Amino acid sequence: MQFIIGNWKMNGTRKEKDTMTATISRKKTSARVILCLPFTLLSGENHGVLIGAQDISEHDNGAYTGDISGKMIAETGAKYVIVGHSERRSNHDETNKMIKTKAENAIKNKLIPIICIGETLAEHKSGATKAVITKMMKETLPISGKFIVAYEPRWAIGTGLTPTPEQTAQIINMIYEYLKKHNHGTTPIVYGGSINATNAKSFISIPHINGLLIGGASLKTKTFLPIIDSIS
Ligand code: 13P
Repeated sequence: MQFIIGNWKMNGTRKEKDTMTATISRKKTSARVILCLPFTLLSGENHGVLIGAQDISEHDNGAYTGDISGKMIAETGAKYVIVGHSERRSNHDETNKMIKTKAENAIKNKLIPIICIGETLAEHKSGATKAVITKMMKETLPISGKFIVAYEPRWAIGTGLTPTPEQTAQIINMIYEYLKKHNHGTTPIVYGGSINATNAKSFISIPHINGLLIGGASLKTKTFLPIIDSIS
């Protein structure tokens, strides 16, 4: 089974969510489609489409103005939560340690964390990708519980650039081997970064890829549905 995960980031109105979820619900697909929405859109009608959040607090409750706890997310009916997205790492200085705590907090609240890992352009260019990815996995992945690993090269996000299928295959294989060695052999691995209807199929057919994490192209039915179609 393949995951098609849309990350709306800080975009979308309730009306747009309604249109998107109603359209997805009418679609016949073997893919598991998940929409990761801003906190304000998590609750309410979702036409049976799986919903996820984009961040979770490290804490359970208390004086953390503006933060949202795992329990609060779970109460909306959301089942997934993205943690450690590159934009959270860059814009909010999130560290591997924080990301691990967030992932564990998600699992504690019966949410499935989608844990993002990926190298910068400088790291990519200097051939440090494998070392960076391994360190991130070592420091962010929970010991037990269900989770998804999202490989998102930071330089591929929103740029129209992607690694070649060969480069991607090498990194995905490395992630797969690492997970297998650490008793997470069945953990789904998804790729994200500048996915569109034209390149979706070439990424989805890479061995050990179990789906795609899509930003910009997930915002409109016109660009998102053809990606879902490329899986079915
Ligand atoms: P784009 O698909 O817009 O490159 O974004 C990818 C992403 O950050 C998904 O989490």
